[in-house]
Amino acid sequence: MEELLRDTAERATRYLAGLEDRRVAPTMDAVQRLTALAGPFPDGPADAADTLTLLDDLGSPATVASAGGRYFGFVTGGSLPAALAANWLAGAWDQNCAFAVMSPVVATLEEIALDWLRDALHLPAGCGGGFVTGATMANFTALAAARHAVLARVGWDVEADGLFGAPPVTVIVGEEVHASLVKALGLVGFGRNRVVTVPVDGQGRMRADALPPLSGPTIVCIQAGNVNTGAFDPAEEICAWAHDAGAWVHVDGAFGLWAAAAPARAHLVAGMGEADSWATDAHKWLNVPYDSGLAFVRDPEMLRAAMTLTAAYLQQGDGREASHYTPESSRRARAADIWAALRSLGRSGLADLIERTCRYATRFADGLQAAGYEILNAVELNQVLVAFGDGERTRRVIAAVQAEGTCWCGGTVWQGRTAMRISVSSWATTADDVERSLAAIIRIARAA
Ligand SMILES: Cc1ncc(COP(=O)(O)O)c(C=O)c1O
Repeated sequence: MEELLRDTAERATRYLAGLEDRRVAPTMDAVQRLTALAGPFPDGPADAADTLTLLDDLGSPATVASAGGRYFGFVTGGSLPAALAANWLAGAWDQNCAFAVMSPVVATLEEIALDWLRDALHLPAGCGGGFVTGATMANFTALAAARHAVLARVGWDVEADGLFGAPPVTVIVGEEVHASLVKALGLVGFGRNRVVTVPVDGQGRMRADALPPLSGPTIVCIQAGNVNTGAFDPAEEICAWAHDAGAWVHVDGAFGLWAAAAPARAHLVAGMGEADSWATDAHKWLNVPYDSGLAFVRDPEMLRAAMTLTAAYLQQGDGREASHYTPESSRRARAADIWAALRSLGRSGLADLIERTCRYATRFADGLQAAGYEILNAVELNQVLVAFGDGERTRRVIAAVQAEGTCWCGGTVWQGRTAMRISVSSWATTADDVERSLAAIIRIARAA
């Protein structure tokens, strides 16, 4: 075991050091060589060190270098050193975090991390929270709490009786709602299409002047950080309007909620703290290893009512039992990575991470604009949308950028326009990474 883990640490260190010089997307050749991992299920045991060697030799070259500083696809953070190290140690611990008796250390880390997160994200001091796999599951978890609350108010016990015959619940979303929230609506039984859609402006923000009249059990889903533009729905107006009618407001803040942690960006989340529930990711802007998301609910009892797990054989302590606040029972120690990330950054380090990545996004936008390309969004956060001409030309540039390998950016369609999307979300990105990537994109676009 000892030699194996030491060898693994060396391999991992070599891998990370190599990211500086390698192309971001793997070569076709590296991907094709993955077939050597296959074959029939082995009849007998294999040496652990050989197994690891095979995984590294074939697997590492076929990774996407998203742990490095020049990956700008989707919204992707890297792993902070302390978070990655904590993740390794917690892997060795192999704790089941379902109940405090199964892991006192992780039960404690969850409570501390929740306190620090509520502080960093400007959420109400007493709100409840659960550690989940990502924002999709965080949306699911918070929407289940919302479903419980709005139906309990009209005398319906949805956990006991389900949705068959329940009073109808109106669900309101913006036109630019994230696909994962729509998926979560399907999972909680509201239906992906059974929604009232509010029109948005050119940045994807719900229009406060176009909010419909409300009546009956209602859940309003708003966004902190549109995945394309980074824009925020007008939370102050929406929360006031929704709460006047007794509606529940849920915030999908997968990455945008972290703007609260940077003083110069915190104005963007104004009013978000007035909502009733929030979903966010730790594996995006907090830069902890996958998978790691968080659901918060203003009234912890609503979360507990939706998620509670009861059975005679289960150990129940007097304190917070994690399994009453998440969809899962057996879970890994996500709180260890999050605690380590927050402790190693501190308030100022977290603010710097958010601010620095936003500044790099602005540098990309300014550089591309100066080179004659069109920026389609108001760059107030970490997302940049750039068009290199018409859709066909922009798609050609995106493909060429990905193939050239200096950096990696994805494509999108923003309100009818094909665009390349640059998301700066990693602690590992340096000013030099930005300049190298910008120069490569401009060179490639000019050649296309
Ligand atoms: C606004 C928003 N919500 C939800 C998600 C889904 O996050 P995850 O992939 O962590 O489930 C994303 C991912 O980019 C997002 O940007």
